[in-house]
Amino acid sequence: MGKGSGFGKVILFGEHFVVHGVPGIVSAIDATADAEVARAAKGINIKDERKGSKGYAEEKRLQQLESIDRMLKAMGIKPETVAFNIWLGGNLPGFSGLGASAASSVAIARGVAEELEMTLSSEKINEVAYEAEKAYAGNPSGIDNTAATYGGLLWFKKNMTGGANTIERISIRKPVEIIIGSTGKVANTKAMVEGVAERKRKNPQKYDYIFKQAEALAYAGRKALEVYDLKKVGELMNENHRLLQEIEVSSRELDLLVDIAQKQGAFGAKLTGGGGGGCMTALTPTRTLQEKVAAAIERE
Ligand code: PMV
Repeated sequence: MGKGSGFGKVILFGEHFVVHGVPGIVSAIDATADAEVARAAKGINIKDERKGSKGYAEEKRLQQLESIDRMLKAMGIKPETVAFNIWLGGNLPGFSGLGASAASSVAIARGVAEELEMTLSSEKINEVAYEAEKAYAGNPSGIDNTAATYGGLLWFKKNMTGGANTIERISIRKPVEIIIGSTGKVANTKAMVEGVAERKRKNPQKYDYIFKQAEALAYAGRKALEVYDLKKVGELMNENHRLLQEIEVSSRELDLLVDIAQKQGAFGAKLTGGGGGGCMTALTPTRTLQEKVAAAIERE
């Protein structure tokens, strides 16, 4: 049997904008999707035991099968020549916005490689997971699979002409507490990404202006993280949420949770990931603040 894991993530700056070449900042979280892969007699049989939003696994089932097909091809395997039983679990919940699809793709790719005794570098696993991610996100930036593969806090910029993406590690003085709030709503990342692309095409001037601000925010965010100015990081996250509202990827529930977090004293809060449901995150750099904000979100 082959085993593999991939990290979940929160995007601190730049979701959606990264798809179009704007830099973003992503942090892996200490939760993983885990896979066990064993050869089978026939077909691709998935047992998905991840905890998650109601309906997440069912809603993503077709995209999941397509992603495995794409993954096998990217590994140089003809899908019709192999059959696997795949078990999926781990402590990363299947909530939209936490990179659960990318984490599972990395986990499965590692599991398949181990089962078939193939030695794949992390770079190759990342490449394979990117191909798989296309089934879920249509035209993904690659930020999710990168965080899922390497972990840590990363600066990511997609290369828009097909060359290697820029991936740089960001060091911070010490780890920091955050909150992740889930709306419990399953979101369709592909539809969200396509919606932004379409509105951008229709309103180039408005969107160019917003995208320039998103770029400036990513650079400012990186600087603030590197000097550990958490007040500043939080302000910039609030600003980032406003930009995400402007490109119409937030929702009533996300705005509500962001608002609660800000009112409870979070340094900053924003939706994280594709939006339209899914999750938000708040910067709550002490355990007390973290618990206060979490309790308020849970109450709501
Ligand atoms: O919602 P998630 O966890 O799939 O994150 C999507 C992040 C986007 O920036 C919206 C898409 C992408 O590929 O970067």
